[in-house]
Amino acid sequence: MTDVRPTSEAESESVLHTLFGSELGGHEQVVLCQDRETGLKAVIALHSTALGPALGGTRFHPYASEEEAVRDALNLARGMSYKNALAGLEHGGGKAVIIGDPDAIKTEQLLLAYGRFVASLGGRYVTACDVGTYVRDMDVVARECRWTTGRSPENGGAGDSSVLTAFGVFQGMRAAARTQWGEPTLRGRRVGVAGVGKVGRYLVQHLVEDGAEVVVTDVKQAAVEAIIEKFPQVTAVSDSDVLVRSPLDVYAPCALGGALDDATVAALTATVVCGAANNQLAHPGVEKDLADRGILYAPDYVVNAGGVIQVAEELKGFDFDRAKAKAAKIYDTTLAIFERAAADGIPPAAAADRLAEQRMAEARGSRTAGVPRQVRQ
Ligand SMILES: NC(=O)c1ccc[n+]([C@@H]2O[C@H](COP(=O)([O-])OP(=O)(O)OC[C@H]3O[C@@H](n4cnc5c(N)ncnc54)[C@H](O)[C@@H]3O)[C@@H](O)[C@H]2O)c1
Repeated sequence: MTDVRPTSEAESESVLHTLFGSELGGHEQVVLCQDRETGLKAVIALHSTALGPALGGTRFHPYASEEEAVRDALNLARGMSYKNALAGLEHGGGKAVIIGDPDAIKTEQLLLAYGRFVASLGGRYVTACDVGTYVRDMDVVARECRWTTGRSPENGGAGDSSVLTAFGVFQGMRAAARTQWGEPTLRGRRVGVAGVGKVGRYLVQHLVEDGAEVVVTDVKQAAVEAIIEKFPQVTAVSDSDVLVRSPLDVYAPCALGGALDDATVAALTATVVCGAANNQLAHPGVEKDLADRGILYAPDYVVNAGGVIQVAEELKGFDFDRAKAKAAKIYDTTLAIFERAAADGIPPAAAADRLAEQRMAEARGSRTAGVPRQVRQ
């Protein structure tokens, strides 16, 4: 077998080394796509199809370099393998990135060209929306590619996924409440929600209905005003720094990634963190700092899986109640992660990774043993 260890520093940093020779690699397939007529440059990364066709969105972003784009595709695809595994989906992990400023270069022709590339993979990769792509874009991609989800209801899709994402986050929060305080309810708890956009506002509704005292913040004043108008009992603070320092039982980051940095963790009054934002841990080690301070962290990719559950269900012909029942299982999964973390003496984020890896390994094992996988698509 070829030794893939790097022979120089430059090589150790190369994206090919990441792919073939590092723990962050191991991807099954990476496809570089180019269509000069429309300006399309895209990377499709399939991390794993152990559990089924790789599923993950298409990010449209003006990357500083092609290398950065490939790295992002590799990282995001790997993350989707873990997310899909713990969401109980029969899907592996994949992700695509389109390089460029969507406001400047996104055209119907470019999206159609992209759809033809995804179609050329014959169903090994199923695409959906991500940062920079929207339901209306997936409607266009779907004209060339049947392996497209996250479309509009007028085109046979399920539309906005934030309803089920918020519902899933709420289920994860109930599991955290049960673990921390013995009862799966937020009744009487003070919950701070940072970011009341598409997901945050539905989360606030669940919390109010459950009897929680809710405090919100958002950089957009209009978003805060809309919440207060609908729920006059909700209060607001000026920014997320003020929010984390105010007396809270639960902190719910529902805006951007990196919300949990060293300063925030040190300042937090809440003993539960559970929110929708992706990539909340600013750097490796934050999960341990949270655990050391007795703060129970519900891993972001576990509790925010309602959206991917929705797009996976869309592929089968969308039924909201069926999808909601599946998203409700986020409660059990989050509880199982907390139990595993306590049993193994590790932070919940590490326990989540172990459970996901176990599920993927079992799927690979049954494949090798000749157990046929269910036929999909
Ligand atoms: N929409 C989904 O189905 C879904 C699924 C999984 C994960 N997520 C993640 O959840 C998060 C929220 O998604 P969304 O769809 O609600 O996005 P959104 O853009 O609709 O809402 C985000 C809100 O956060 C606010 N915000 C931005 N920076 C802020 C800051 N520093 N402090 C306070 N508020 C701030 C914005 O003004 C906006 O109102 C994102 O990280 C997203 O990746 C969303």
